Amino acid sequence: MEVKTFGVIGAGQMGNGIAQVAAAAGLNVVMLDIKEEFVQKGMANITRILSRSVEKGKLAADEKDAILGRIATTTELSEMAKVDFLVEAATENEKIKFQLFKDLDEICPAHTILSTNTSSIPIGRIAAQTGRPDKVVGMHFMNPVPVMKLVEVIRGLATSDETFQLTWDLSVKFGKTPAESSDFPGFIANRILMPMINEAVFTLYHGVGTPEAIDTVMKLGMNHPMGPLALADLIGLDTCLAIMETLYDGFKDSKYRPCPLLRKYVEAGWLGRKSGRGFYDYG
Ligand SMILES: NC(=O)c1ccc[n+]([C@@H]2O[C@H](COP(=O)([O-])OP(=O)(O)OC[C@H]3O[C@@H](n4cnc5c(N)ncnc54)[C@H](O)[C@@H]3O)[C@@H](O)[C@H]2O)c1
Repeated sequence: MEVKTFGVIGAGQMGNGIAQVAAAAGLNVVMLDIKEEFVQKGMANITRILSRSVEKGKLAADEKDAILGRIATTTELSEMAKVDFLVEAATENEKIKFQLFKDLDEICPAHTILSTNTSSIPIGRIAAQTGRPDKVVGMHFMNPVPVMKLVEVIRGLATSDETFQLTWDLSVKFGKTPAESSDFPGFIANRILMPMINEAVFTLYHGVGTPEAIDTVMKLGMNHPMGPLALADLIGLDTCLAIMETLYDGFKDSKYRPCPLLRKYVEAGWLGRKSGRGFYDYG
């Protein structure tokens, strides 16, 4: 199947990045969120990033206009009837994703692939909400999407070889390097990354070091490009907590217990960069 029209559900930090790379690869994109202001915020972010590329001489101005011209926006899920392939990048919440996949299964034509950018929720559980589990797959982009090279492609128990291959090939078309993961909570990336971030939060919680000290140790001592607390702020603390809860729930192992400090920050609305405050203050 040739993918001509590409849907993105959720215009947040991941969704708008995915819409940008798909449009840059020449696909017609429909980007959806629940409110017009969220969709507009997503478009403004894409415009800002492309404008910066033009200023730096990395992108021609007419190419920027062409990319933006390929992205349509909507708040109506029924618009997904037009797409051949979609990526769901809504909030990391099982209830939201399950309802979306039930609705999308009704709305989308039989050939449409329903992929998800979930960070940790098993693909098989999402696929079970639909009547087309063979066409459900994980397409896990990294943040920020236009910059990061990896796409983790996750094969659910029922994902067909055709669906897997199409997702793999699309990732390459988007200029990314895919890696295959099987379907366990957190897949490969967050099975390894998120317990490290959670341990950094415990280190702060136990008063072992300040955020600056913890991040400096990991940057200069372990050669990580970003410290774990700064990275948590970039990912979003709500997303980090949701991933830890999925790991804890999925493995029933106390080593995945989310740090109470992480929960406290999320409950206070300190979600990291996207809310202006997390382990650091973004003013
Ligand atoms: N942040 C990261 O670093 C990162 C990396 C990889 C994957 N992910 C995953 O990507 C997904 C999105 O994360 P994000 O960081 O972009 O979150 P975000 O909070 O920036 O954006 C989520 C968007 O989803 C929208 N949304 C909520 N319910 C919706 C619905 N029913 N229909 C349509 N849109 C809806 C919200 O309005 C919001 O704009 C999550 O599953 C997350 O786990 C995040």
